[in-house]
Amino acid sequence: MSKISRKGIIIAGGTGTRLHPSTIATSKQLMPIYDKPMIYYPLSVLMEAGIREIMIITTPLEQINFKRLLGDGSKWGVSFTYGIQNAPRGIAEALIIAEDFLNGEHCVLILGDNLFYGDPFSSGLEEVMSTGEGANIFGYRVNDPSRYGVVDFDKSGRVLSIEEKPVAPKSSYAITGLYFYDGNASKYAHTIKPSGRHELEITSLNQIYLSNGLLRVKILRGGVTWLDTGTHKSLFEAAQFVSVLQSRQGIRICCPEVIAYKNNWITKSDVMVLARDLEKSGYGDYLMKVCDS
Ligand code: DAU
Repeated sequence: MSKISRKGIIIAGGTGTRLHPSTIATSKQLMPIYDKPMIYYPLSVLMEAGIREIMIITTPLEQINFKRLLGDGSKWGVSFTYGIQNAPRGIAEALIIAEDFLNGEHCVLILGDNLFYGDPFSSGLEEVMSTGEGANIFGYRVNDPSRYGVVDFDKSGRVLSIEEKPVAPKSSYAITGLYFYDGNASKYAHTIKPSGRHELEITSLNQIYLSNGLLRVKILRGGVTWLDTGTHKSLFEAAQFVSVLQSRQGIRICCPEVIAYKNNWITKSDVMVLARDLEKSGYGDYLMKVCDS
């Protein structure tokens, strides 16, 4: 199976009101999940998937801070383009904002507050990366599906329905914030009408693919963890998850420097330079250790 070239989009705008007052003076996606900024986690998913051209969509006010953190991406062997969402008009608006950047190419959209971890996920990603026409979403079993987009599917994995935050969910499978689209996504996004909460819903975009018979779902099972960080409680739990995993295994997960190095996008000496800039933190020490191993 050969991979289809895709561009990446991280949507990292929104108002973060559910995290107020913590997010009054900063962007939610710049807040830490344990030892690194939240945006490193979705960024790692794209980099693990081999994606090097990435648009980061932020509010106008916060763009400068994202640029300060991430730069143009060259330090990690990738290229960042910045897009602005003037108001939180919905996740599907990302495909409209990114239209010129995508230029009709396939893409992967990921929410700036979603954390994925696990090996089977990486291998599942490989398969989805090679699928051309249509859209791919990922389902994950949760105990509170009403909080999410929900996907219902039959035994063969065929999608039967998708609904945004249904009061009576048809399944226990939430739709995660990771979406693979073919080159039609921007065109379709233009046709979506705002929902009751005045947003261009990503579920509406996925419903277009579903009605065209081109929406596939992959269920992330056992060995995969998917966490969202929408509330103080879920943010705290995500930080605990990262802390426990890292101290138990003596590794750090979702470090862009390490992924770039493993992908041969930067050299050992590049990593050493990056590590020296961070040497007063354990993060910098870890990068040095990776280079020595
Ligand atoms: O986390 C997965 C869920 O994300 C999906 O199951 C739902 O189908 C999808 O609609 C979305 O639901 P949420 O209600 O959790 O989305 P939320 O409004 O919290 O936005 C998710 C992220 O996207 C958040 O980091 C802010 C960013 N965002 C959101 C909107 C609406 C933007 O950057 N711009 C926006 O206009």
